[in-house]
Amino acid sequence: MKEEERRLREQIHALNRIGIALTAERDLGRLLERIVREARGFTRADAGTLYLVRGDHLECAVVQNDTLAVQMGGAHGELDLPPVPLKPDYISAYVALTGKVVNIPDVYASREFDFEGPRRYDALTGYRTKSMLVVPMQDHRARTIGVLQLINALSPQGEVVPFREEYEELVRSLASQAAVAIDNAQLISDLQKMLGSFMEALASTIDARDPYTAGHSYRVTQYTLAMAELDGTPPERLRIYKYAAFLHDYGKIGVRDAVLLKPGKLTSEEYREAQAHVAYTQEILSRIYFPDELREVPEVAGAHQEKYDGTGYPQGLRDGQIPRGARMMCVADVFDALTSERPYRERMPIKKALSILREGAGTHFDPEMVDLFFGLPLSRLLAILEHGREGGLDPEDVKVLSKVTVGEFYQVLLKEDRSPREEEIVRRFSRYYRRKRDINAGDVPRGTGSLQRVGRPGLIRGGGAFPGGDL
Ligand SMILES: [Fe+2]
Repeated sequence: MKEEERRLREQIHALNRIGIALTAERDLGRLLERIVREARGFTRADAGTLYLVRGDHLECAVVQNDTLAVQMGGAHGELDLPPVPLKPDYISAYVALTGKVVNIPDVYASREFDFEGPRRYDALTGYRTKSMLVVPMQDHRARTIGVLQLINALSPQGEVVPFREEYEELVRSLASQAAVAIDNAQLISDLQKMLGSFMEALASTIDARDPYTAGHSYRVTQYTLAMAELDGTPPERLRIYKYAAFLHDYGKIGVRDAVLLKPGKLTSEEYREAQAHVAYTQEILSRIYFPDELREVPEVAGAHQEKYDGTGYPQGLRDGQIPRGARMMCVADVFDALTSERPYRERMPIKKALSILREGAGTHFDPEMVDLFFGLPLSRLLAILEHGREGGLDPEDVKVLSKVTVGEFYQVLLKEDRSPREEEIVRRFSRYYRRKRDINAGDVPRGTGSLQRVGRPGLIRGGGAFPGGDL
C-alpha cells in the first residue's frame, strides 16, 4: 500500500509539473507537440496522435511515433492528413462525441470500432498498433476541443503492454490542463492575427488614396523586415518593426488630397502640411492601446522622417537617438519612393536610386543601415519591388539573382566594362524593373483584406522606352 501511495504521489507531482510547463508555452505549434510528448512520457507510450475538433470533423494536428522515427505537425509544420468525420464508428470521434475515455488492450482483437485506418497504416509502415488509450481534451467549460490518442504502452523491458487503468483518469486530467493551455495559445494567436490584419488593412486604406503609392506601406514593411532579419533582430522586435512600418504613413489620412496627390512640386506651405503627416501618425497611434511588447510601435513609426545628421523632423533626432527600426525604415521609405512611378515621372533608374542611398549614408541615413540594405540578396529586393505587379518572377531569374547582393549589383552597374556574367545579371534584373506598370490592372496591395482600388485612367499611359535607356 505504501508503495502504491508513493507512486501515486509521484505521478501527481509529474502531472503538476507538466501542467505548469504547458501553460508557459505560448506558441500553439510547440504546445501541441509538447502535449503529445509529455503524455507519452507519462504513460510510456511509443506513439501518439493529437486531434483537434474542427466543426464536423477531427483534424490531425500532431503525429509522433518513436519506432518509426516520425515527428509530424505542431511546430514541424501543418499536417496534410485526411480529417476524421465525427462519427462514433471511429474511436477518436467516439471519444470526442461522448467525452469518455477508451482503453483498448489490442485494437486488432477489438470489434467495437472501425480500425481500418490503423490497419492500413500498419500495412504501409510495418508497424503493429496494439494497445490504445484515447482521452478527450476538455477545457474549463467542459467543451471537448481535441482528442489525445496514445498508442502502444511499453513495459520497462520494451514490450507492448496494455495501458494501466490508473492512467485513464490521470491522463484525462493532463489532457484537460492541455486543453486550457490550447485555448489560451489559440486566443493569443487569434488576437495577433487579428491585430496584424487590422494593421495591414489600415495601411492599405492610406495607400489606396493614391494609386501610385498603392502597396507603398506594404513594400516599406517588407524592406524593413528583410533588413532587420539580416541584422539578426529577434522575432518580438520584428513585430514592432512590422506594425510600425505598416502604419508609418497613416497620418497621411489628415493631409488633403490637393496636397497628397499633387503632381509636381509643392509650395512650402503644402510641404509643411505634407510633413505634418508624421505628427498625425504619432498622434493617432498614441491613442491605440499597445500591449507592453508592442509599446514602441508609435515611437518607431513616428521617427521615420528623422535624419541621421539631425536635420529631419518632427524632433530633429540624430544618430542613436533615432530608434534602430526607424533608421532602417527611413532607408526603405526613401528607396520605395524613388523606385515608384509617379504621375509626372517614371521609375528612377535603379543605379540612380542606389546612388542616392549610398551618397546619403552619414547625412540622411545611418551608414550601417545603408550597408544592411546593400547586403540584401538582389532577388529579395526584386521580389519586393515587383510585388503586386502583373506576372511573377521566373524561378531561374530568382536563382541567379539570389547569389548577388544589392551592393554587388550596384558595383556592376557602376562598371563600364562588364563580363558576360555581369551582363546577364543586369539583363535578368532589368527585364522586370523596366516593365511598365499598368495602373489600371488593379495591383491592389496584397493581403488579408485589401481594398478594391479605383483606377485613375489616363495618368500614365503609353509606354515608351526608359529615359535614355539607362539603368
Ligand atoms: Fe512612407
